[in-house]
Amino acid sequence: MEFNLPLVLDNEMTFTSYSPANRSDKVGEAASATSSDIVEALRRAKIAQANWAKVPAPARGRVIANVGRLVEKNKEALSKLVTREMGKVYREALGEVQEVIDTCDFFLGEGRRLYGQTVPSEMPKKNLFTFRNPVGSVFVITAGNFPAAVPSWYIVPALLAGNSVVWKPSEFTPVVAKALTSLFHAGGIPNDLLITVVAEGGETFAALEEGLKEGIINKVGFTGSTEVGRRIGAKTGEYVQSACLELGGKNPMVVMPDANLDLALEGALFAGFGTAGQRCTSLGTLWLHQSIHDQFLARYSKLVEEAKVGDPFQDVLYGPMISEKYLENHLRHLAMIKGDHKISGSSGTGRITAENPRAGFVGDPSQGIYAHPTIVSGIKSDDELYYTETFGPLVTVGSFKDLDQAIELSNGHGYGLSSAIYTTNPDSVWRFREGISAGMVSINNSTSGAEAHLPFGGNGKSGNGSRQSGIWVLDQFTRWQSMNWDWSNKLQKAQMDVIEIDHNPDFTL
Ligand code: UN1
Repeated sequence: MEFNLPLVLDNEMTFTSYSPANRSDKVGEAASATSSDIVEALRRAKIAQANWAKVPAPARGRVIANVGRLVEKNKEALSKLVTREMGKVYREALGEVQEVIDTCDFFLGEGRRLYGQTVPSEMPKKNLFTFRNPVGSVFVITAGNFPAAVPSWYIVPALLAGNSVVWKPSEFTPVVAKALTSLFHAGGIPNDLLITVVAEGGETFAALEEGLKEGIINKVGFTGSTEVGRRIGAKTGEYVQSACLELGGKNPMVVMPDANLDLALEGALFAGFGTAGQRCTSLGTLWLHQSIHDQFLARYSKLVEEAKVGDPFQDVLYGPMISEKYLENHLRHLAMIKGDHKISGSSGTGRITAENPRAGFVGDPSQGIYAHPTIVSGIKSDDELYYTETFGPLVTVGSFKDLDQAIELSNGHGYGLSSAIYTTNPDSVWRFREGISAGMVSINNSTSGAEAHLPFGGNGKSGNGSRQSGIWVLDQFTRWQSMNWDWSNKLQKAQMDVIEIDHNPDFTL
């Protein structure tokens, strides 16, 4: 049965998507779902799930394989759409779509594993087993910065494990969402098993509450801000559920005096300004050892000043912000810069315009939503910018005297998503790994750019301990069921009918 959202004719009830790189380029439209549309979608998905769970897992894996091959076949078209609708540079968009393919490649094989265990019993003629059961109906809510890869981290394993999905993508990337959904359907995922609804936050939250109450949401996956994650975590908690939460970060990069500084510069440039700083793994604060601080900051500032910004289809470091809302947030963060901070990295700050130009800008800045890269140095642990996730082309820089202080500064704000250290000293590597509270640690590599089959997630304000990707995410989308099978034909009582083997406790040599 095909699921169609009611056709909404009132224009105010439609999301119109324009390219952030060129506001006159209309990418497409999507009907705005109300909370009752979403609840209806959840009901349908819940019904579809019962049949899907009966399909053997290896056959479900084959469907994921089909989806992966279709995404691969359409890689360029989908990547172009990602660049056009979200604004990341085309090379990064290709990487993002590759991440969808990698995720399918990983989970297609999981259909033939999805292992449970056989466990010895303490009694004869009795066997113990564990099984992974699907949780049921999953409600996925994602952000606009990774409009294809991050949703696939939820959707692919959830479907593989026998669940249904209702997906609420970002209202800034509905066309990518539609395209990705159609690839899943073309790959053999039944229409009602994966339903995509574009909606405003208020409607989504109302549907979340109703869906939890009705029992048609059995798991929530959310990627977005810590603020919204807290509300979702609290709401699901009321219904004795724990959401899979992937939230913000203020990701530190520590540069030790023994580091390969050229490598660290390259890493800091990509981590700080790739995707216009709009990754949850983007560099937050660059912590420089005091002995190299001035020299490194001067070189970093020069690199950023000279970097190309502009049209994301050209060879640039980064393109536009996702939307006006993201630019406004960036401007709010710029207002947190204080008198004792030093600014570098561009010929101006804030929006790039004809009046506030960026040297070497590629294209016409008036066509899109572009922002200057900004480095704010002199950051201290009591600054607002120290503990605020900025999610834009803004990198804060501070100095430290020793590794202990660097670790303290890296953890002190309470976020704990990604982190990085540049050093050639193994002692520093291991001390940093042990001391850092982040869920992800890079050694001599960027804070961003995690591979698709390692656990992805954070601690503290970055998440509630849930992990995505690889085998670890299966614990989000399955529930362990244990089974005991007694074939002795008598009632054997655990902990009571125990077998004791004679031994001599007083024995000594
Ligand atoms: C995100 O920004 O929510 O590790 C995800 C990275 C990407 C995913 C980022 N593979 O930077």
